[in-house]
Amino acid sequence: MTLRHFLEIDDLTAAELVEVLDLAEATDPPQVLAGKGGALLFEKPSVRTRNAAEMAVVHLGGHPVAMREAEVGIDERESAEDLARVLSGFHAVIGARVFAHTTVVRMAGAAAVPVVNLLSDRAHPTQALADVLTLRQHLGELSGHRLAWVGDANNVFCSLSLAAAMVGMEVRAACPAGFAPAADHLARVAAAGTNLTVTDRPEAAVDGADVVATDVWTSMGQEDEAERRRQAFAGFIVDQALMAHAAPAAVFLHCLPAHRGEEVTGEVVDGPQSLVWLQAENRLHALRGLLAFLLGRSG
Ligand code: CP
Ligand code: NVA
Repeated sequence: MTLRHFLEIDDLTAAELVEVLDLAEATDPPQVLAGKGGALLFEKPSVRTRNAAEMAVVHLGGHPVAMREAEVGIDERESAEDLARVLSGFHAVIGARVFAHTTVVRMAGAAAVPVVNLLSDRAHPTQALADVLTLRQHLGELSGHRLAWVGDANNVFCSLSLAAAMVGMEVRAACPAGFAPAADHLARVAAAGTNLTVTDRPEAAVDGADVVATDVWTSMGQEDEAERRRQAFAGFIVDQALMAHAAPAAVFLHCLPAHRGEEVTGEVVDGPQSLVWLQAENRLHALRGLLAFLLGRSG
């Protein structure tokens, strides 16, 4: 068996993605971590991801050890590579939430156990697993449904749009000038089988959509840009008026934390179309499915 890491959603094939979703819903999780540990490093704050990852390790029979940056000192106290080598001796899996995506890539290059990206500046793939799991539970067959993204083409968008393409969904994004997806991401989504349409008009992206998704305008690490971003994203709030352009049965997704009155209104995030609480709980189920998959495949 070869070592399998999960740094980006398309580290899985489309068929493997479905396998992970099926494992996420398994009622009798395989005890692949019995007597073993899971090391979880966090360079940035986390509620959902840390709790989901810790409890996923527990559900699989293992013991999680979560560490914040202040006590780890990635590339300050010791290098990301040395950390990965050392933690591989204690644990059967390493999860890391990092600023620079290259940090998880370097850890994966040095680790002797699977490395899971728990969010980087480029991707949030375990979030995307929970998002498509939530949509599958709600919509059933996902192929042919349309996802509209409103806001920043950020880490969450990149993983979700790619995951949506992998399950056969159509994707439209509305982003202000300067915050649209990069050409290489459009190519990657196209390679997954979907044309990602980009507009700067939220109504055009949301028109007839089955799913409307958004995220914060200022991600962790971008705090210095908050004011500039607030100005750039004015008009990109997901409110009832925007949701009215979507299909009548459309649902709303947000990875959370949400800023009511900024990227979404309270009416929408707390309203009947919102799936955000199920989406948050599904972080646990998706992570458990992912770890069961990776540990079942990594020798
Ligand atoms: N959605 C998400 O990743 O939440 P946390 O930052 O709280 O982990
Ligand atoms: N895009 C956000 C997601 C937080 C879960 C960030 O990176 O801060």
